[in-house]
Amino acid sequence: MKTIIEPFRIKAVEPIRMTTRAERERILSTAKYNPFKIAARDILIDLLTDSGTGAMSAEQWAAIMRGDESYAGSESWFRFEKVVRALTGFKHIIPTHQGRAAERILFSTLNVRGKIVVSNHHFDTTRANVAAAGGEPIDLPCAESRDTAEPHPFKGNIDTAALETRLKTRAGNVALIIVTVTDNTAGGQPVSLANLRAVRKLATEHGVPLFLDAARFAENAWLIRKRESGQAGRSVRGIAHEMFSLADGCTMSAKKDGLANIGGFLALNDDRLAALERDVLILTEGFPTYGGLAGRDLDAIAVGLDEVLDEDYLRYRFASTAYLARACRNVGFPIVEPPGGHAVYIDARTALPHIAPAALPGQALVCELYLAGGIRACEIGTLMFGDAATHDLVRLAIPRRVYTQSHIDYVGEVIADVAERRNALRGYRILREPATLRHFTAELAPM
Ligand code: F0G
Repeated sequence: MKTIIEPFRIKAVEPIRMTTRAERERILSTAKYNPFKIAARDILIDLLTDSGTGAMSAEQWAAIMRGDESYAGSESWFRFEKVVRALTGFKHIIPTHQGRAAERILFSTLNVRGKIVVSNHHFDTTRANVAAAGGEPIDLPCAESRDTAEPHPFKGNIDTAALETRLKTRAGNVALIIVTVTDNTAGGQPVSLANLRAVRKLATEHGVPLFLDAARFAENAWLIRKRESGQAGRSVRGIAHEMFSLADGCTMSAKKDGLANIGGFLALNDDRLAALERDVLILTEGFPTYGGLAGRDLDAIAVGLDEVLDEDYLRYRFASTAYLARACRNVGFPIVEPPGGHAVYIDARTALPHIAPAALPGQALVCELYLAGGIRACEIGTLMFGDAATHDLVRLAIPRRVYTQSHIDYVGEVIADVAERRNALRGYRILREPATLRHFTAELAPM
């Protein structure tokens, strides 16, 4: 059959609320044209992020009831540790309340002061945590990743030649290589096994530890199976194992491919570093057998980490992203090609050439998607990065197991409506902005 259905039935429903365009005009104006300031009750379809927004399965809810809330050595912890160890193979498992807590603990214990940390792309919080620890985050994406239209299958790859140069010229000064799978910043682009193997070889030759930012490891493993030659016959779990086996450790936000609403972990093989990390964990997160999470959260993650490797689930996940990608292309909105797993990124700078980057074409599209259909998306461009932005993208992130095909059909119709009126869209100017991370709280006005 050609329809790839949602491989689940729905047992609990959460109403979403229709609003009129007139209501949305008032709401957006009150929110100062910044959708981060809109209350969720005023959103119809929320594509702001795929992080912590997924629906849990009946098995996860059942696991939540089994949660053991003992302070030390709970049953939930042993179940969590067993699943994470079986998946990653790492010796030390350190639970944290979300991904950025794992990052902060890693970079505050690894000696990064005055050194560089190299990545395909650091996610924002990773970059900020490297900098906060006195290190310099450097991104070395492959050349293909700069061109949004380029259909290269592995645009998350690190530029290994540039990496080798840094390892030679900054010898002794590279604290860590961290490969983000999939590369969220590049548009949810996967990293190939061949690239990971090449990075492993360089890391070993130069004595530099290699970590994965594994937030979307299962989506990366699926794309390796789909796109990398020689991988089609393997299980996604086997590929995920190999990805982890090439690294010395990982940071993980369980809010994505952990299929949980909160949680994360740090995992590694180095005994000395793990001991330092547990000391910081106790200081800021909690005892090493819960690390800032309730026992029930550990159980939900343990089940989620298994479910996410279910191939029916992954097939449906990629089918829904590809479906939304087609809806954008069909109305002439260029997207970051090829689409990955967790989101479709519309290239608003190209789609709205009459709006200069300084007039925030991404934000113009974000605001119009809300006005036209109550859809919340996220600008990743000049509003987020200032003049340093090389693109103005609009990310339509797809929460896991939450929306059905008819929801996505509706999103497609709203996009078509906006595309028809694209020449009438106007830019935005910033009225007020904070010193850092301005996109979260900036106040704007239409031009
Ligand atoms: N790494 C990656 C690749 C991420 O995408 C995120 C979060 C984090 C680390 C941090 O994890 O939120 O659990 O602290 N990304 C979310 C997003 C916020 O919308 O892309 P966290």
